[in-house]
Amino acid sequence: MASPSAQKPDSERYGWTSIILHWLGAVALVFSFTTGDPLEDAAGAERVSAYANHVFWASILGILLIARVVWRIRRGFKPNPSQQLALRVLARAVMIGFLISILGAVVSGLLLPWTEGTALEIGALTIASPMSSVPALYDFMAGAHSLFSHIWIALLLLHLLGALKHLIIDRDEVFGGIFWRSANGGRR
Ligand code: HEM
Repeated sequence: MASPSAQKPDSERYGWTSIILHWLGAVALVFSFTTGDPLEDAAGAERVSAYANHVFWASILGILLIARVVWRIRRGFKPNPSQQLALRVLARAVMIGFLISILGAVVSGLLLPWTEGTALEIGALTIASPMSSVPALYDFMAGAHSLFSHIWIALLLLHLLGALKHLIIDRDEVFGGIFWRSANGGRR
């Protein structure tokens, strides 16, 4: 007999694009985070290489974020799993929080060099600063960068708790649906 998840229509499941974007995004987020911390104490050549490493992962993360938003706009959201309204609201709030946290970290990160009056360097690309150094604005951006680049950790805990609830308590298809595409497809 087919499992309940196998009977759901294609439009209610994730396809490979969503699954791959989700996991690549998770990897890029972890690397953006772990390459950011060493920057604070690095100096000279060590800082230049640590910075290039950090910006590489952050740029990948930014591109993946845009790709995910575009994909979601084109394919729409999967219907919410049946659970209490409060949990559905919490799940959506966590997702929006992730978006804000990542977007905030990328934007504030991009603005750090400019507010310091130096060029933004992303790989071979150099974009001159449109402004001279404004120390107060730089301090504000550095604070915003630190905040946005840490908020996602709390959200991740809630996200994992939610996923485990689906795996252990609800025993529905939600947990497995982000690891593999079901045999009869998925178009979201
Ligand atoms: C292209 C985008 C980004 C640029 C240009 C950038 C640039 C920087 C710079 C210059 C610093 C050092 C600040 C200092 O010396 O105080 C830094 C720190 C840091 N960045 Fe980024 N960043 C970007 C995106 C991200 C993203 C997406 C994350 C995601 C988690 C992130 C996480 C961190 C962390 C954890 C630190 C350690 C310092 C702190 O806690 O404030 N960055 N980043």
